[in-house]
Amino acid sequence: MPGVSLVGSGSACLTVQLTNDDLSQRVDTSDEWIAARTGIRQRHLAAATDSLSSLATEAARNALAMADLSAEEVDLILLATSTPDDLFGTACQVQAALGATRAVAFDLTAACSGFVFALVTAAQYIRTGVFKNVVVIGADVLSRWTDWDDRTTCVLFGDGAGAVVLRASERDRLLGFELCSDGSLNHCLNLAYQPETAPLVGDINVQMGTFSPITMNGREVYKFAVSRVPEVIEKALFRAGLTTADIDWMVLHQANQRILDAVADRLGVPSDRVVSNMARHGNTSAASIPLALDEAVRAGKIQPGDVIATAGFGAGLTWGAAIIQWR
Ligand code: COA
Repeated sequence: MPGVSLVGSGSACLTVQLTNDDLSQRVDTSDEWIAARTGIRQRHLAAATDSLSSLATEAARNALAMADLSAEEVDLILLATSTPDDLFGTACQVQAALGATRAVAFDLTAACSGFVFALVTAAQYIRTGVFKNVVVIGADVLSRWTDWDDRTTCVLFGDGAGAVVLRASERDRLLGFELCSDGSLNHCLNLAYQPETAPLVGDINVQMGTFSPITMNGREVYKFAVSRVPEVIEKALFRAGLTTADIDWMVLHQANQRILDAVADRLGVPSDRVVSNMARHGNTSAASIPLALDEAVRAGKIQPGDVIATAGFGAGLTWGAAIIQWR
């Protein structure tokens, strides 16, 4: 059975920055409150000329360059996103923009767990021998669906895009994984469709609604994350035949610094092994893990052979962990 190697990472550079002080001009909040409760100091926003597909394409291009792989060699593009340019799917626009003419492309939605779910999905195609070269992208423009007058949510989120390249290899570097869902907790975090009935003909109506901005029960999501994330990492480690002592780096979904600290504490992972870019990016949903990974790789922190515990968690509710070895 072919193995899976991660051979490149990339991210998009978003130039618009929104600081906590900027936000305090819009809602009743402060830099002190946001930084103390979340660790966030600023976040990036997509510019008016950006699109989800342009950001995803930039991240994928950078990941392909690191992997030294041409777009024509890509077999599959998996785009994890909850904020598509097109509800029919955005991955094909990325495929066209990259010039990945041989690749099949589709979207996968699992909110802030989207990148881990997509990574594991991509690995199955490689392990079965169907595809050799896969680009997995996590990209979200949550600013489109944020209620900018709701201080309990708008301070948390930012926009971003990150990507990795997976290749078939002799040695399998996806060492273990575990994925979970619990739809009974769906109401805790939503970007839900709101139907509006419109008359069509006679007594036949159609639903012509739209999506309402993000709503969240912050305390419930916090409790969910600090209990489920350590558990799912332990399960993935068990499948890998490893323990927490084997973790070189934890690259978790960047939701909240307090969640990262609590998870590391429960697992006994030292804080200097926890990758965090919370302060600069906030919560970028499906983008947060590949973005944090790419920054740590390019900063020379993550080195070939390092064991990385990664975990995503969020709306659905969904959560999942993957233990990977870099390159
Ligand atoms: N600025 C200032 N005050 C704020 C505020 C803001 N941006 N947001 C909420 N508050 C106020 C509340 O109104 C409340 O005031 P009150 O006591 O007068 O009613 C007080 O701060 C405490 O609110 P609470 O919601 O209890 O805060 P908290 O300690 O639970 O922190 C979160 C809120 C959102 C930071 C925290 O619950 C959290 O991180 N949850 C997880 C969210 C998450 O990660 N979601 C994404 C998962 S993918």
